[in-house]
Amino acid sequence: MSTERAKPKIVAGETERGKTTTRVFRQKKKAGEPITMLTAYDYPTALAIDRAGYDAILVGDSLGMVVLGYPNTLPVTIEDMLHHCRAVARGAQHALLIGDMPFMSYQVSVEQAVANAGRFLQEAGMDAVKLEGGLERAEAVRQIVAAGIPVMGHLGLTPQSVNQLGGFRPQARTGSAAKKLIDDAFALEEAGTFSLVLESVPARLAEWVSQKLTIPTIGIGAGIGCDGQVLVTHDLLGLFDRFTPKFVKQYASLHSVMGEAFSRFKGDVEARRFPTEDQNVAMKDEQWQALLKELGE
Ligand code: KIV
Repeated sequence: MSTERAKPKIVAGETERGKTTTRVFRQKKKAGEPITMLTAYDYPTALAIDRAGYDAILVGDSLGMVVLGYPNTLPVTIEDMLHHCRAVARGAQHALLIGDMPFMSYQVSVEQAVANAGRFLQEAGMDAVKLEGGLERAEAVRQIVAAGIPVMGHLGLTPQSVNQLGGFRPQARTGSAAKKLIDDAFALEEAGTFSLVLESVPARLAEWVSQKLTIPTIGIGAGIGCDGQVLVTHDLLGLFDRFTPKFVKQYASLHSVMGEAFSRFKGDVEARRFPTEDQNVAMKDEQWQALLKELGE
């Protein structure tokens, strides 16, 4: 299967820039420069994020909720993920591309985890994978990394464990839960993750962890002390109507923009205001007259 990337044109205002690698992540942490990341699930969004100069694009399994309409991320399959990763890979040229390993694609066995991680690079144009969990995933992380595949960890609110966590709620708010997160973070770093997502955890804990780890942390609902930030793009754009987590800042209200555009088009069709001459396909008069003559009209 070809994973060759289409080369999007350089647009006005853009400069030639290279490909972000996991090395750039490390360098940015060292230099104290924030790492930027957003989620994408399709070609046009990936293109726009890439052109905006982001360091990384995560094809998150949040796909299941914000694009596929599931109540949580559990029904998302590896085939769903690979399909959307391919679309993103066609749109993004520079950002580091990270494919989120879906529920049950890495939990059954380390061998299966390695094989499935490989599919993201081999079949879907990703540069790295992300998986959820701490110490219990350390061996899978170690073996995936040993196969040459960069791994991003994910701690705190880990949506694939929503049934165990009792809902989408902030994590690590007690001393013992915070200590467990710290132990998990060190275990993941030791296993070879190149970066770690911290989701919906106390800001002071995330800052402490970020200062102690050598790998960069990427926060989502984890405060300003992380080495980088990520949001789900549909939340940022106001495209997901079901709920907006407290940690989201909405930069647009595209759901209402979309609704208004749909209403206007419907109104134009019903009032016969669309299409107009501007949208019509022209036919030369002599061609039309000749046809009418042939038809005996
Ligand atoms: O699936 C996803 O989009 C994620 C982000 C919230 C980090 O895991």
